[in-house]
Amino acid sequence: MCGIIGFCGYLDAKEELVKGLAELEYRGYDSAGIACFTESGIEIVKSVGKVAELENKLPPRMESGCGIGHTRWATHGGVSEVNAHPHQCGNVTLIHNGIIENYHELAKALENTGRIPVSRTDTEIAAMLIDSLYNGDAMEALRRAVERLKGAYAFCIMFADQKDVIYCIRKGSPLVCCSSEEGSVVASDMVALLRYSKEYFVLPEYQVAKVTKNTITVMELDGTVVSPVMLSIHWDMSAAQKNGFKHYMLKEIHEQPEAIRRTLAPRLKKGKYLLPDFSEDGIQDELFQDTNRIMITACGTAMHAGMMGRILMERLLRIPVNVEVASEFRYADPILDEKSLVIVVSQSGETADTLAALRLARKRGAKTLAIVNVKGSSIARESDYVLYTHAGPEIAVASTKAYTAQLTAFYLLTFRFAYVAGKLSEGQVSDYMKGLNEVGELMERVLEQKDKMKELSKRLTPAQDLFFIGRSMDYALSCEGSIKLKEITYIHSEAYAAGELKHGTLSLITGGVPVIALATQEDVFAKMISNVKEVRARGAMVILITKEGNTTAIEKDICDEHLILPASDDLFAPFTAAIILQLLAYYTSSYRGLDVDQPRNLAKSVTVE
Ligand code: F6R
Repeated sequence: MCGIIGFCGYLDAKEELVKGLAELEYRGYDSAGIACFTESGIEIVKSVGKVAELENKLPPRMESGCGIGHTRWATHGGVSEVNAHPHQCGNVTLIHNGIIENYHELAKALENTGRIPVSRTDTEIAAMLIDSLYNGDAMEALRRAVERLKGAYAFCIMFADQKDVIYCIRKGSPLVCCSSEEGSVVASDMVALLRYSKEYFVLPEYQVAKVTKNTITVMELDGTVVSPVMLSIHWDMSAAQKNGFKHYMLKEIHEQPEAIRRTLAPRLKKGKYLLPDFSEDGIQDELFQDTNRIMITACGTAMHAGMMGRILMERLLRIPVNVEVASEFRYADPILDEKSLVIVVSQSGETADTLAALRLARKRGAKTLAIVNVKGSSIARESDYVLYTHAGPEIAVASTKAYTAQLTAFYLLTFRFAYVAGKLSEGQVSDYMKGLNEVGELMERVLEQKDKMKELSKRLTPAQDLFFIGRSMDYALSCEGSIKLKEITYIHSEAYAAGELKHGTLSLITGGVPVIALATQEDVFAKMISNVKEVRARGAMVILITKEGNTTAIEKDICDEHLILPASDDLFAPFTAAIILQLLAYYTSSYRGLDVDQPRNLAKSVTVE
C-alpha cells in the first residue's frame, strides 16, 4: 500500500517520477505527489486523486534530475491535498509507505520544539522528528530516528542542504533499488525499475541507501558500507503492460494457462513416471517426512487458495491441516512445534499480517514454507523454504493469475508429499500430474467461451445482493468468487457452504436474487442439486456451474443459466471454474462502469496491519 519512488540521474526527474507512479498506482490511488530539487530549491506538487490528476498539475518548467514521488492509500488522515505526500518540515522532505504507530507520542514530544503539524498524518510527524535530529549529518539523524520510530516504514528523504541526494531506509515496508545508465532508482516494487534495469537489490531493513545519480551506496546505520545482494528480473516491460487488453485484470485472466505452465515447468521430473520435483527449490523430502501437521495462513485471495490446499491435503495426505486468516493467526496463540509445517501464501510477499504470522510461526519452532510470487520479497526471504509461483507481475488489484498459480503450487506440494508419505503410488501421482499438466489447455477452452460470460453478466449487473454456494472444493472456490465479485462490482455478495444456507441465510433469498451454484464435485453433486432446488423454490435466479461428465442427470429447468466446464478429474475443476467466476466479476464490473483495475478503497500489497 502506497507506492514510493525516487529518481536521481540524467533524465527529467518529474517525468520519470510520474511514469513510475503510474506503474505503482495499483498500490494506492487516493492522492499523489512529487518533490524535486530545482534551481530554486525543493519544489513540491501534490494532487488528490490519481496520478493523471497530478500530471495535469505539474508546471511545465520544473527542471530537475532528482526527486521523490508518492501515490497514497490513506491510513492516517483523510484524502486531501494537505495529507498527500511528500511531507516537509524544515530541512526534511520525505515520502513514506507504512504506519508510524507511536506518532501521537512523538508529536507530543515535538510540540515544544515549535514544530506543529499541518496535516493529520503520521508521516508528517516522522518528517518533523528527522528534522529535529538533523544537524547536517543524515546518517546520525536516521540512526537516532530509527531508535524512536515504532511501526513500519519505507522512507525516501531529501535534505534541503544536500542537493541531488536521496536517503532511503526501511523497516517492514518494501524498497528495491537499481542503477542504470539513466541514473539511480528506488521504488516500492520492481515493476517501476524495469524500464531502467533487470538487475536490482532489496534494501535490507535498517540499512541506508544513499542515492546519487551515479551510485547507490548501502550502509549500516553506523556508516559501514555493505554490498547488497543483487537479484535479476526474468520478465520484461511487456509483462507489466496491458498489451492490447482493456484492463490488466482481463489480461491477467487470460495469462493463467501460461502462468500455470511456468509454475509447473521447473518442477516436472520426467521419467517413467511424471513426478513433482523440488530440487531446484531446495525443498527436500525430509521436510514432508518430518511433518505431522500443516497450518496454512494468508490473507484474502491467497487464503482462499489455502482453503483449497487444505481440502486437497487432508484428502490425499490424511494429516490434520488448518487454515487461518493471517490477521487472526497472529493473535490466536497458535499451537505449533517442530513437527508442524506452516505454509504462508502471498502474491506480493509483503502483506504485513502474513509476514507477521510467518515470524510468529518461526518463533514457535515450526518449519515454514512460503508460496510467493514476488522474488526476493520479505516473506520469501524470511521463510525456511520458498516455492515461487511464476505468474509474472500481477497489476490489477483483484488477484486472478496469482490465485490459480497458488493452487498449482498446492497441488504440486500435495502430490509430492503424498508420494513421499506412501499415500499415493508413483503411478497414481503420475496420473494426477498428467491431469495437472492438462489444466492450462482446459482453461484455454473456457476462455474461448468468454462471450457467454459477458452476456450472462448483464443479468448480474443490476443486482444488489448475490450469493455463491458450493460444497467442499466448490465452497472454497465460492469464497474466492465472492471476494472477486464484491471487490470490483461493489455488489454485496456472500459465499455459503450450500448445506448451511437453511440455517439462517435462506431468509435473504427472495425473487430474482442471483445465486451462483457450483456443482462440479461428484461426491456432493446430488446434495448440491437439492440446495439449488431450495433456492430456486424461493425465486432465486440460479446460475449453475457443472462439469461435462457429471453423471447424475438433472432436470432441464433446474436453473436459469447453465455453464458447463470441460471434463476433468473433479480435483482440477477449481481451475476452470475460477475462470468463469473471474470473468463474471470482470464483465459485471465493466457493465457497471467501474474502475475494474483499481476498485475504490482498495490497493494491492497490503503493507499495513
Ligand atoms: C483480492 C486480493 C487480496 C489479496 C490479499 C493478500 O483479489 O488480491 O485479497 O489476495 O490482499 O495479498 P498477497 O497475496 O499479496 O499477500
